[in-house]
Amino acid sequence: MEKDELILGIETSCDETSAAVVSFQGNGIERLKSNVIYSQICEHLEYGGVVPEIAARAHANTLFPVIEQALSKAGVSIDDISAIAATCGPGLIGGLLVGSLAAKTIALIKQKPFIAINHLAAHAQVCRFVYDSIEFPFLLLLISGGHCQFLEVYGIKQYKLLGETLDDSAGEVFDKIARLLQVSGGGATIEKMAVNGDSKRFSFSIPLKDRNDCDMSFSGLKTAFRVLIEKMAPLSMQDKNDFAACLQKGIANALIDKARRALGMTCEEVKKKRTFVVSGGVAANQTIRKAFQELCDCSNFQLFCPPIHLCTDNAAMVAWLGLEQYKAGFINDISFTPKPRWALEKL
Ligand code: KG4
Ligand code: ZN
Repeated sequence: MEKDELILGIETSCDETSAAVVSFQGNGIERLKSNVIYSQICEHLEYGGVVPEIAARAHANTLFPVIEQALSKAGVSIDDISAIAATCGPGLIGGLLVGSLAAKTIALIKQKPFIAINHLAAHAQVCRFVYDSIEFPFLLLLISGGHCQFLEVYGIKQYKLLGETLDDSAGEVFDKIARLLQVSGGGATIEKMAVNGDSKRFSFSIPLKDRNDCDMSFSGLKTAFRVLIEKMAPLSMQDKNDFAACLQKGIANALIDKARRALGMTCEEVKKKRTFVVSGGVAANQTIRKAFQELCDCSNFQLFCPPIHLCTDNAAMVAWLGLEQYKAGFINDISFTPKPRWALEKL
């Protein structure tokens, strides 16, 4: 039997320090040998958002222990690794520098290839890691803290943008409203609060409903919530839960309205494959997943979402895309510089 090859992945683009090992052999998720995630959420708590300087320092302090843990959980040493992949953008430059420099240093010392990973591409491709049956091209909705985009995905480096948010991303709105409701944990906390809330108490119109495209806008929704929250203050716990339920429903409705258009607008090749992937942190939300499942059932598309723990930032998706780029011969020079802005269409 030929020797198993392994890829080490490193993720440091925002506030999660993560390292993972994936193997070439096996099927689907069983190729994931380890995926260690250190969340910096506590470090940023008192500031109400991610502070880039604090994030960079926390990555610098925790990355090597996290890498060591990932190797040890996988039961391998750095010498067993074939190549090192690191997120090189888009994201906060401090974190990108820490992660990419660590990867390059290991690559240089151990004489292994270095692979630069686009964070959005890692979110876009992670479902293919879990579900071997997904074929190109597919329709993708990438819903994260920084992005909200419909894309056609033709390969590991080929993307066509169909539409995107003109202002805030859906994740950003979850985070901002969570802050206004004085709770930590962003969208994940809103989802928990929504369970005890009345989603019919406040209603908000669907943004850009009259436009026949799949561009989105969430800033109006955010402002409408902010104005009402400020008007009603002080809020009871029930008020907060009701706001959470209504926000979740409002975002789900806005996404579904545009997803319906994207399904209609997408090219014949995608329509033939009938595969719709919804990925990124916000795809962890069960109400949003359910709404997409219903849309896909009605539209005769097959829906794929990553398992919850691979929706939010993680190095498993980085290692997996690293493996694919390595197999395809996409090795990067050590002089590759991280890019805080790096659109999928520019790959
Ligand atoms: O993909 P991700 O971890 O980071 C970026 O690449 O931006 O996404 C983070 C975003 C945050 O805005 C967070 O509030 C949101 O995903 N999020 C959720 C849930 N879990 C994370 N939003 C709604 N429901 C959730 N369960
Ligand atoms: Zn992300």
